[in-house]
Amino acid sequence: MRALVTGAAGFIGSRLSARLLDDGHEVLGVDGLTPYYDPEAKRANLEPLLRRDGFAFEELDLRSAPLEPVVAADVVFHLAAQPGVRSSWGDSFADYVGHNVLATQRLLEACRAAGTPRVVLASSSSIYGEAERHPTPEDLTPRPVSPYGVTKVAAEQLLTAYAANFGLSGVALRYFTVYGPSQRPDMAFHRFIRAAFAGERIEVYGDGEQTRDVTFVDDAVRATVAAAEIGDTPLPINVGGGSQVAVNEVLELVGRLTGRELDIERMDAVPGDVRHTSADLTRAAGLLGYRPEVGIEEGLREEIDWLRRRLGA
Ligand code: UGA
Repeated sequence: MRALVTGAAGFIGSRLSARLLDDGHEVLGVDGLTPYYDPEAKRANLEPLLRRDGFAFEELDLRSAPLEPVVAADVVFHLAAQPGVRSSWGDSFADYVGHNVLATQRLLEACRAAGTPRVVLASSSSIYGEAERHPTPEDLTPRPVSPYGVTKVAAEQLLTAYAANFGLSGVALRYFTVYGPSQRPDMAFHRFIRAAFAGERIEVYGDGEQTRDVTFVDDAVRATVAAAEIGDTPLPINVGGGSQVAVNEVLELVGRLTGRELDIERMDAVPGDVRHTSADLTRAAGLLGYRPEVGIEEGLREEIDWLRRRLGA
């Protein structure tokens, strides 16, 4: 199989690319190396991929580059995005629209023109907002409470529109708070572990009793690979980790597993943050044969070990 991975230098995209190469596929990775977080972290994700047979990389901006040549693949995994729930307010919204909506539309247009058979789109649990039901099934009406979530709904709807009109086969995966080695430095686990090692203050937004269905990155990657291999599917599919954890519980675990005393400051809750997320995985199990395999303690240990090596802590 020839795969295009957009966002190949990112957290999930780099792990997905490695897994596809392990499975013997050819991968073209593209990434804009945007400065949402330090591009050096993205270059570090890319570095081992660049040394592997079967991997090629192009730095490009999906908002403006000619895309038809790059989508000539058996499957497109579209993971490139402007991520982050809490930072999508205000002037930064233009970046979210550009990277998540316009870029997706341009990519789908290129897939249509090139006759690309399959697109797997990275969506997000944030499209649900404060969900009326837990665990949350895919058929609830999306009611995002962050501008970021709104752009992810738009991306999903674009995929639906291109699929309905041009016979393009697509599936959107709603990832639930993915964590593990290579996690983005703006996300909670990464920030908490880094602060624990550095002896820096940890800011907790709200009372810390908000819960997340957290998904270990290799579980998310397995679901993503499976989504490319099945036939036509109803859109979309939840990809969760199978259990909920409160931020306060994560802090307790980080303290115990790093052996460090945490310096915690309680802050106000942040607009856009939902109280609880939990994925109903019935559809993922039925269509993808997906069942999460890595629990929070094991997964957190892997992220801690990775960051300890990175920081030389
Ligand atoms: C994450 C990703 O950042 C999004 O890109 C993704 O789309 C989303 O998951 C998703 O599931 O769809 P979030 O759940 O906010 O969003 O993930 P974290 O940044 O890891 O935050 C988890 C919780 O920790 C939040 O309640 C947040 O308020 C809290 N937090 C985060 C803190 O208390 N302090 C921090 O320094 C960072």
